[in-house]
Amino acid sequence: MGTMDVQSLGYLRITAEDPHNWAGFASHVLGMEAIPGDGDVLHLRMDDRHHRIAIEPANGSEGFSYGWEVADAAALDVAAGELEAVGVAVTAGTKTELESRRVAGMIHCLDPAGHRVELFCGADGGDGEFTPGRDISGFKTGELGLGHVVLMVPELEPAVRFYQDVLGFRVSDYMLAPFKATFLHTNPRHHSLALLEVGVSALHHFMVELDDVDDVGRGYDLVQAEGIEVARTLGRHTNDRMISFYARTPSGFELEYGWGGYLVDDASWEPCELTATSSWGHTPA
Ligand SMILES: [Fe+2]
Repeated sequence: MGTMDVQSLGYLRITAEDPHNWAGFASHVLGMEAIPGDGDVLHLRMDDRHHRIAIEPANGSEGFSYGWEVADAAALDVAAGELEAVGVAVTAGTKTELESRRVAGMIHCLDPAGHRVELFCGADGGDGEFTPGRDISGFKTGELGLGHVVLMVPELEPAVRFYQDVLGFRVSDYMLAPFKATFLHTNPRHHSLALLEVGVSALHHFMVELDDVDDVGRGYDLVQAEGIEVARTLGRHTNDRMISFYARTPSGFELEYGWGGYLVDDASWEPCELTATSSWGHTPA
């Protein structure tokens, strides 16, 4: 395979029983900008994009999905063709779906674990400048995308084949014990996606990266002051070397809030096996 070029993780669509439960957490703790969307949808801004995260009411929506950005409409056509060539059913986004995502083009399919994968191009900017919900230096986005997602899958092998061989992601490193996991990149960010084989099909966490380690430290103070569950204490990952903590979100899954992620150079990178996820900290609650 090979001409498909996925650039970055562009957006997330998640669900919550009441999306507005996210508003205070997202703005005052994380420093995002929470803006009401249509109906009960809540949009979260992290940069000059219209939104990076959409939170929909849990009842009647399709659950977690994510949007991977390609360069333009031509690249989207190439992607659709390559997916269909390997027998993946591809559906074009409806006018309503394009409007709610504020994108020019979108196609979607399911990965082997049943997660909805969207590929898109032409994201809109927001109305006016990004205004952080608290005083932070900013989120590291741009060509690196909005952060990373870690998905739980029942079977690792078919999922890795799909993202690597069909979507063109590159393996950064992998773990065989105490559980099987593969970390993949689409740009210099060490991983935009990680897949964990844990018997179920669900979102484990997503990560957002801050420009300053003090943004993370203040966020850690705020999470504890607000009585939000710290799912993993402050620590440093072995592979992307990120200093981060994990908080329990209003949706139940975890959010990693970090700084200092390592950037991979494809010209010299060699995937290797990991034997530990963290060099210090990250103690589970
Ligand atoms: Fe992570």
